[in-house]
Amino acid sequence: MASDIPVTNLYPGNDSLPDIAGTKFDHANKKGSVVKFLWGVSTSSYQVEGGNMANDWSVFSQSSTIKERVDGLARVGKISLNLENPGSAVGQWDLDTFCRDLEHAKSLGINAYRLSLEWSRIQKRPQDTSRPYDSPQYFEMDAISHYEKMIKLLVENNITPVVTLNHITLPDWVLTPTTNILGIEDDGFKNSLGGWENPKTVAAFSGYAKFVANQFKDYVRYWITINEPTSLIGFGYLAGLWPPGFIAAEDRARKALFNLVEAHVQAYDAIREITGDESMIGLAHAMVFPKARPDNEGANEKAALQYDYCFNRYFLDAVVDGIYNPALMRDGKDCQVIERWKGRLDFVGLNYYRSAYIYKHEIISLAVPWAGGVFDEDLGAADEPHNLLNDLGWEAYPGGLYRILRYLNERFRLPILITENGFAEKSDPASRHDGSFSKRAPYIVAHLCQVLHAISEGIDVLGYLHWSLVDNWEWDYDYMPKARFGLYTVDRNPPGQKVGYLPREPTNGAMALGYVIQEGKIAYAVSRFGTITPSGDALIPPSSG
Ligand code: BGC
Repeated sequence: MASDIPVTNLYPGNDSLPDIAGTKFDHANKKGSVVKFLWGVSTSSYQVEGGNMANDWSVFSQSSTIKERVDGLARVGKISLNLENPGSAVGQWDLDTFCRDLEHAKSLGINAYRLSLEWSRIQKRPQDTSRPYDSPQYFEMDAISHYEKMIKLLVENNITPVVTLNHITLPDWVLTPTTNILGIEDDGFKNSLGGWENPKTVAAFSGYAKFVANQFKDYVRYWITINEPTSLIGFGYLAGLWPPGFIAAEDRARKALFNLVEAHVQAYDAIREITGDESMIGLAHAMVFPKARPDNEGANEKAALQYDYCFNRYFLDAVVDGIYNPALMRDGKDCQVIERWKGRLDFVGLNYYRSAYIYKHEIISLAVPWAGGVFDEDLGAADEPHNLLNDLGWEAYPGGLYRILRYLNERFRLPILITENGFAEKSDPASRHDGSFSKRAPYIVAHLCQVLHAISEGIDVLGYLHWSLVDNWEWDYDYMPKARFGLYTVDRNPPGQKVGYLPREPTNGAMALGYVIQEGKIAYAVSRFGTITPSGDALIPPSSG
């Protein structure tokens, strides 16, 4: 059966780049005020801090049965993973290390910094449910004062903090993933709240949101409630690769998705009530540019359309227009409007990395029809034509960023903050190679060209926060060299050094980003650092070599 419309047509635009040499990142918004572009980096607590064993991921990465399960799934999906505990990560829980990293970031000229608060550090124990969820005795004031020092440091350096309340991890009392080899609930799971599928998690999260908003309201204007709620569904409840580690768990996934919308809405209301009208409250939403894998008489196209609806569109429709679609199907037959979900977003936080080829999958597409289909995570290992890839096998599509920005602007008319964009590469420091083999700098330049393309058409892009400042711990990939996203690369095994600060060195990505920030436009960066064509089909090297 042929489907109605190619999925890519849902995102207007083509891959031609107009002349943007004269366009500036600082721009006038729809109200006519000048937007001082936020230039920054993006990080998350569990990936950089180290020394925290109290969350769902630390259970997940230390259980031999879970590892066995994840390894089996990785073999089927042809991805090479390495599920391990982050250990000391990159040591940023140490304030000196944080300060040194901040100095690196400042040397690029940034004026914004996204960090996340680790809920499991701030609330170590379950709460007595008969008491209000934000009762002070449930919070670790040491952790609060530690984060306060970090946030104050940013403010004192004229850097705007962008604070995420939940970046993927949950305290172990909220979720202890089951260690049963078949994924059947065990006592650990039952004794926890069971994660996002339980409405009690929503209540706990909004209490935590209220408490931290109250603590930090004097310093923070930009709040992000939840990072990538739909990735939690895809990886955690359908693919089984993230906690809680369920596979094709339709019912659990549907409940978790509903509760994630509720959690965002309730946290939004809590933060708004505490911080007043000036604060900007958003979420960081992952969007993959959808392409359908060619073949099979429209079935992949159909799968891609449904995938796009479920993962790219549904969540934003819910928290902006209050649309609740219990069936989660794109025909929208059962849609209702929940008034208290409406208007709960001040800006769209966009995490954009890549395009993907979606196809109908024998198990997921049947067991979870609303998920549409799946895509191969590592295109390098897949038998499929593709454009330029990062070292994880993700396809770069810079033009997709413009097309998504345009869609978001036309659909929601809200400002957009790019909360993540980055390139995984087994990169050497810039000092050790001539830069011509590194694709990180061209990737950054190419995406910034697309941001300017959007701004030149009047789209209000508030800023660009690059993922990430330093190489960090990358979920299922641990510290694998192919999963390095840092502007600064971290030497994890410095000769003769067993403990202490791990040395950082800038990559060409840091040079390119710093150069564009200081230039305020893009004109010379393209020839100096190279770029990638908007379609992602070719790398254009720097003109000097
Ligand atoms: C997540 C980050 C992650 C990055 C690269 C995003 O999905 O928010 O935590 O490290 O992508 O995979």
